[in-house]
Amino acid sequence: MNQPHSQQPDRYVVIGNPVAHSKSPWLHQGFARQTGEHLDYQTLLAPLDGFNTAVQQFIATGGKGANVTVPFKLDAYALCTQLSERARAAGAVNTLSFSGQEIIGDNTDGHGLVTDLQRNAGVELKNQRILVVGAGGAARGALLPLLTCAPAELVIANRSMDKARLLADQFSQYGNLRASEFTRLQGSFDVIINATSASISAQMPPLPVAIFNQSTLAYDMMYADQPTIFMQHAASHGANTRDGWGMLVEQAAEAFYLWRGVRPETSPFLQRNPV
Ligand code: ATR
Repeated sequence: MNQPHSQQPDRYVVIGNPVAHSKSPWLHQGFARQTGEHLDYQTLLAPLDGFNTAVQQFIATGGKGANVTVPFKLDAYALCTQLSERARAAGAVNTLSFSGQEIIGDNTDGHGLVTDLQRNAGVELKNQRILVVGAGGAARGALLPLLTCAPAELVIANRSMDKARLLADQFSQYGNLRASEFTRLQGSFDVIINATSASISAQMPPLPVAIFNQSTLAYDMMYADQPTIFMQHAASHGANTRDGWGMLVEQAAEAFYLWRGVRPETSPFLQRNPV
């Protein structure tokens, strides 16, 4: 039988607005049960203009760390006193650790994506042709972890070409990447990642059908109960598909590891059903 804990649990939160729908408490409480870590993890709704105050209050009451979700990832970046290289490259922070006066920022989203692709989906990224669709925050966060896997080529396609070009320039030091317009995409890709927010409004970026083939993995960073429009479109052109649930699980596991020094076993959480 487990001994009762004599101390109060370490406290963590996910801060967002809205945040009630967040799966992070379910994941982190599950990781804590699995690993025997003594912690408490809740949601924290911050006012849209009150992120910094909410963080400072949480620190003042002994909070150890926080995940950050929409719309506060840029505010979190600005608030940090220390940043990891991947947070710096992403220009956004999704994981905060509090230590004395320091607010330490990291970004585990791209790590979550790459881990889900490689380990859970069994997809090779090295020497492959990868297409990232979108040039907003979600795309930016994915680029350094993807380029670290040494793809043959990484193409960024976006509705606004200037944003795609800017990202391609900013990340050129990390690998072989370039920007493209949707209509100018040529040949098929091994992995196509939808990093646009188009799925939220059930819209499909105007991608040429020749980018898909039978061995393409079309990955939507969004997840939903039903396949997204992007996944349905890709499947109708012969591609394999996957949504972003595994990315969510893996970014959470990486945050848990940063805080606790223990890696949870993620496979029981990939099914989405309570474990
Ligand atoms: P996020 O932080 O989720 O990436 P964002 O920074 O607002 O959100 O970026 C949204 C991305 O989705 C952008 O790449 C946007 O394209 P533009 O830069 O041209 O605006 C893309 N996007 C949103 N709706 C889209 C649609 N219907 N078709 C194509 N691209 C879309």
